[in-house]
Amino acid sequence: MAMGCAGAKRIVLLGPPGAGKGTQAERLARHLDLPLIVTGDLLRAAVREGTPLGRQAKAYMDRGELVPHELVVALIREALQKIEVEGGKGFLLDGFPRNLAQAQALEGITSIDVALLIDVPREEVVRRLSARRVCERCGRVYNLLTQPPQRDEICDACGEKLTQRSDDTPEVVAKRFDVQYNQEAQPLIESYRQKGLLLSIDGVGSVEEVFGRIVRALEGRCAGAGGSP
Ligand code: AP5
Repeated sequence: MAMGCAGAKRIVLLGPPGAGKGTQAERLARHLDLPLIVTGDLLRAAVREGTPLGRQAKAYMDRGELVPHELVVALIREALQKIEVEGGKGFLLDGFPRNLAQAQALEGITSIDVALLIDVPREEVVRRLSARRVCERCGRVYNLLTQPPQRDEICDACGEKLTQRSDDTPEVVAKRFDVQYNQEAQPLIESYRQKGLLLSIDGVGSVEEVFGRIVRALEGRCAGAGGSP
C-alpha cells in the first residue's frame, strides 16, 4: 500500500552497519512504491563484474573503509539520474550519504525530504553481522539467529550455498562501526537533525516491529507536514 504523503518521496537511509538498512529498505520501497538504490549492492556488483570502479573499490571495502569520494558520488549521480529519467517519482537511497562531504555532493544533485536513521547499538550490530549470510546469486540476506534459511545455509529462493560477506569479520565490523559510523556519520546525523530532516527510529526489535515504527514515524511526519497519510 503506498502512503499518500506528498512530503516524503526522497528518503535517505542512515544507520550503523548491520542496523537492518537493507532489510527495511526493501520493505519500505515496496510499501511506498519508490525506486530503491542500495549503495553497497551497487559497489559489490561492480566488484563482482570486475569493472574499473569495482577494482578500485574492493580494497577499501575489504578493509571496512569508505570508498573514495569521487567514485561513490559518480555512482550515485548515475543511479539518481537514471531514476529521474525513468519517472522521477522519488527514491529511497540506502548507504549514501555517509559523511558531510557526500551530503554536500548529494545537495548538488537533488534535495531530500527525510533522513531516516535506524539506530542500533554496537553489541547488537556485532551479534547480527556475525550471523548474517547472503546468497551471492540472488542477493537474498539471511540471519542464522533471526531469519535462518529452511535448509542449512542454502538459499530458500534459488538453492545456492550461502556465504558470509568478506567485510563481516569482527575486525572489519569494528572498523566500519567505529570509523565509518561513529566518526564519519555522526556530524552528518547532527547536521540533518539541525535541518529538521532527521527521523530517528529504534532499530532493536523484530524486523516487523522496526518496520511498523518506520511506517508510523513517516506517516506521523507526513501528517505533521500537512500531507494526507
Ligand atoms: P554496505 O553494504 O552499505 O554496508 P553497511 O552500511 O555497513 O550496512 P550493511 O549492509 O552491513 O547492513 P544493513 O544495515 O543493510 O543490515 P542488513 O539489513 O543486512 O556497505 C559496504 C561497504 O561499501 C562499506 O563498508 C564501504 O566500504 C562501501 N560503501 C558503501 N556505501 C558507501 C558510501 N556512501 N561511501 C563510501 N563507501 C561506501 O541486516 C544485517 C543482519 O541483521 C542480516 O543478517 C539481517 O537478516 C539481520 N536483521 C535485520 N534486521 C533485523 C532485526 N530487526 N532483528 C534481528 N536481525 C535483523
